[in-house]
Amino acid sequence: MIDDVLKPIHGGPDGGPEPLYDFSTNANALGPNPVILAHLRRADPSRYPDPLYRRLRQALAEAHGVAPEQVAVGTGTSELIHRLARWNYLRGPILLLPPTFSEYARAARALDLPLWEARNPEEFLHLLPRSSLAFLCVPNNPTGEVYPFLEEASRRAGGALVLDLAYHDLMEDPPPLPQRAWRLYSPNKAHGLTGVRAGYLVAPLDLTHFQHLAPSWPVSVYGEALLLGHLDPEARAWLAESRSTLHRLRRLLAQGLRGLGLEVRESPANFLLVRVGEATAVARALRERGIRVRDATSFGLPQWLRLSAQPEEAIQVLIEALEAVLARVD
Ligand SMILES: Cc1ncc(COP(=O)(O)O)c(C=O)c1O
Repeated sequence: MIDDVLKPIHGGPDGGPEPLYDFSTNANALGPNPVILAHLRRADPSRYPDPLYRRLRQALAEAHGVAPEQVAVGTGTSELIHRLARWNYLRGPILLLPPTFSEYARAARALDLPLWEARNPEEFLHLLPRSSLAFLCVPNNPTGEVYPFLEEASRRAGGALVLDLAYHDLMEDPPPLPQRAWRLYSPNKAHGLTGVRAGYLVAPLDLTHFQHLAPSWPVSVYGEALLLGHLDPEARAWLAESRSTLHRLRRLLAQGLRGLGLEVRESPANFLLVRVGEATAVARALRERGIRVRDATSFGLPQWLRLSAQPEEAIQVLIEALEAVLARVD
């Protein structure tokens, strides 16, 4: 049971040797962003950060055109997701539209909250008025879907409709977002800095009480430097450039996979899904060849792998290895 909970289904080491190529995480493969690295180097680890994160929340609020009280910071959005589920103000049924990021369901289960997993968008919209907390990931991890009903969902929401924007900054053509929705931001993905644990929430109301649900100093000085640094226009310029390279690489990867006769679903960000048959067996065989991929079985997609855009050399190695592995598995 404990093993099951701790299984490395997300990023981070999987206990095996260091992979030669890692397609399993969706962090920007061209990172880390050197502009933000310079911000991190200037951080002073000999002092505590401001426990109220005044300057940081002010800067984030200005960037989003809201009041600083509408911004809460946390040790990554995973922590903020769990904190949202713990907040009495939103306590009640948690609504999801699977397959999606596993942390929402994990938070609900850990707290024994009712977990409503809608079978389709119609059911999701139908259940929304009675849910306390609903999550939609835009674009969705792992399917890459961008739901066309965000405005309607925001109007129908009985409690909080939270849009998880982990990969939004990596989209070519981001959709407009409803004003009333709650928004989770994790800049560590787009800037290739997932080892720095920091994220933030923007909500249409005062989050002072929510911020007090966290222990003091949930964000380190490095997290602070990342969240401030990602607002730096030079950091944004680096991101814009790397984004177009990533899309070119994602298309190249998709083309190579289709060349093997495989079905591919490209996201509008830096990742895609590919149907390989027995995903777990294929992922294991690739791992033995030093290539790490994300088996989508835990998302309820046992025939699919999720792959992120990687440099050309890595793509070539993967395509060759996959061809060999599929010939063997067949
Ligand atoms: C969709 C989505 N949301 C949130 C997270 C959590 O990211 P972090 O805790 O680093 O902000 C992830 C991480 O993989 C993710 O894929």
